[in-house]
Amino acid sequence: MKQFDFLILGSGIAGLSFALKVAPRGRVAIVTKKNRAESNTNYAQGGIASVTGKDDSFELHVRDTLEAGAGLCKENVVRTIVEEGPARIQELIDLGMKFSESEHRAKDGSRELDLGREGGHSRRRILHAKDMTGHEIESALLDAISKSPNIEIFENHLAIDLITSQKITGQRGARSAERGNSEFRIPNSELENRCLGAYVFDKKNNRVETFSAPVTLLATGGCGKVYLYTTNPDIATGDGVAMAYRAGASIANMEFVQFHPTCLYHPKAKSFLISEAVRGEGGILKNLDGREFMDGVHEMKSLAPRDIVARAIDSEMKKTGADHVLLDITHKPAKFIIERFPNIYQTCLRYGIDITREPIPVVPAAHYQCGGVVTNIDGATDIAGLFAVGEVACTGLHGANRLASNSLLEALVCAHRAAEKILSSPVEKTDLKIPLWQSGNATNADELVVVSHNWDEIRRLMWDYVGIVRTNKRLQRAQKRIANLQEEIHDYYWNFIVTNDLLELRNIATVAELIVACALQRPESRGLNYNLDFPDLNPDWAQRDSVVRKII
Ligand code: FAD
Ligand code: SIN
Repeated sequence: MKQFDFLILGSGIAGLSFALKVAPRGRVAIVTKKNRAESNTNYAQGGIASVTGKDDSFELHVRDTLEAGAGLCKENVVRTIVEEGPARIQELIDLGMKFSESEHRAKDGSRELDLGREGGHSRRRILHAKDMTGHEIESALLDAISKSPNIEIFENHLAIDLITSQKITGQRGARSAERGNSEFRIPNSELENRCLGAYVFDKKNNRVETFSAPVTLLATGGCGKVYLYTTNPDIATGDGVAMAYRAGASIANMEFVQFHPTCLYHPKAKSFLISEAVRGEGGILKNLDGREFMDGVHEMKSLAPRDIVARAIDSEMKKTGADHVLLDITHKPAKFIIERFPNIYQTCLRYGIDITREPIPVVPAAHYQCGGVVTNIDGATDIAGLFAVGEVACTGLHGANRLASNSLLEALVCAHRAAEKILSSPVEKTDLKIPLWQSGNATNADELVVVSHNWDEIRRLMWDYVGIVRTNKRLQRAQKRIANLQEEIHDYYWNFIVTNDLLELRNIATVAELIVACALQRPESRGLNYNLDFPDLNPDWAQRDSVVRKII
């Protein structure tokens, strides 16, 4: 048993910034499933939205966020995150983060920060490090972490399940006891459900370890890998949402999966994003005949909010039968393109596309999970001792559609607030004895092809039936298939020794189930949830979240 004061699952912007804030007060374990830098954060391109420009104001940033969110954002949450943003960004700069500077000099002779623009923003307000903002943030945070003696990072460790008081006290049935107590049911429990830590799979040594802590932070990011095509790296399998759901936490708004309009379309490119900042700097969407199809769709044309652009591309592709559209920035000087977007330029060149001379083939791909584990603005979930920050959480900031570059901002602000809240309250411990993980009679899986087949099947069916445009019939079809697959995965989970792929498969199946369940709850089209059976907004759902919670 490994005991800590703070257990953090995930080493992206949310987990690392929280770790730095709590480390002065106790021993911190950061558990992360690959190497420490591997996270969505590391691939963020556009930047962080925050009010610093002279022509900008908190009011405008709040208004743009609410507008993108299609009526579902929680305004008090939006206001707090927007207003606290500049202070958190200054802290990041103090840690060593270097944002790109503009050509202009301030009165004191110093250079001002360069401000990028993205879809749905009425002002230039995106702080960025060229087109590699996430990589620079991750490096700055990891550098600071390496100087903290209180923080220990466990790489290649994959959290399997949260350990909660309900699971322990409701211990019934030999089968559950055999497998790490991960699926107990306790009817009529009067107990408060409290998180006590997590069971974690040490991938290198092939064994399950028990981590205990009075405070556990879920910072496991999003779930792009639930879909066949995604901008996300392989880590994004929705583990945090699946674990929290199994532990009995409320999950909300999972139907709002954001599809980024412009992922590079090339047979050899896996998940490479073409930043919205390219459109922010004048890039224009065209169909294969060269027609600018966003004209007449929205007044902001190619820079309209993402849900609108992604749907317009989807419709254009269906209309013309093309398997991609084009993003053209060749009218800008080559020198500007190469300096502003060095990563995009170099990567496309490796695939034989010179973006200074030819348009970029692009398609929409699953990008961001707007819903997640329900939290308040301080990261508290409805399980005591369990907090969630970053993409895994649903605070109410994004509503039905996230405004570009608001997620890094949310992670910074909420990690800070969660740390402040936790450090200002007395530590609550329990004397419940945590059972160690038992492998029981499990044996090595004999047919790993089942796991890889089910992975592919879920991702494909989510793409085909639960994509940018939905219908109830397709959702129900998806629901049935997911239920069948889950039965098979469940048997596999209980009968065989766990592996990384099996654990992730179990999680993507759960997250797929939750996305479909939320989409079926909402009888309207709002933001990212576009359902042909309910093409309009439904005023009864204007302020309603779709919530799912497992009865345990
Ligand atoms: P992540 O950064 O994804 O970190 C999750 C961590 O949890 C990882 O370390 C992962 O390994 C770990 N983990 C997951 N499951 C487990 C498990 N079971 N056990 C142990 N560890 C686990 N947002 C913006 O605001 N601006 C942008 O410009 C921007 N660009 C983007 C570009 C791309 C290509 C992508 C994919 C996303 C972009 N986003 C952007 C979104 C943004 O990057 C993410 O929402 C944000 O980085 C999420 O941070 P996080 O800390 O919550 O999660
Ligand atoms: C991008 O650079 O287009 C991604 C921005 C975001 O997802 O917020």
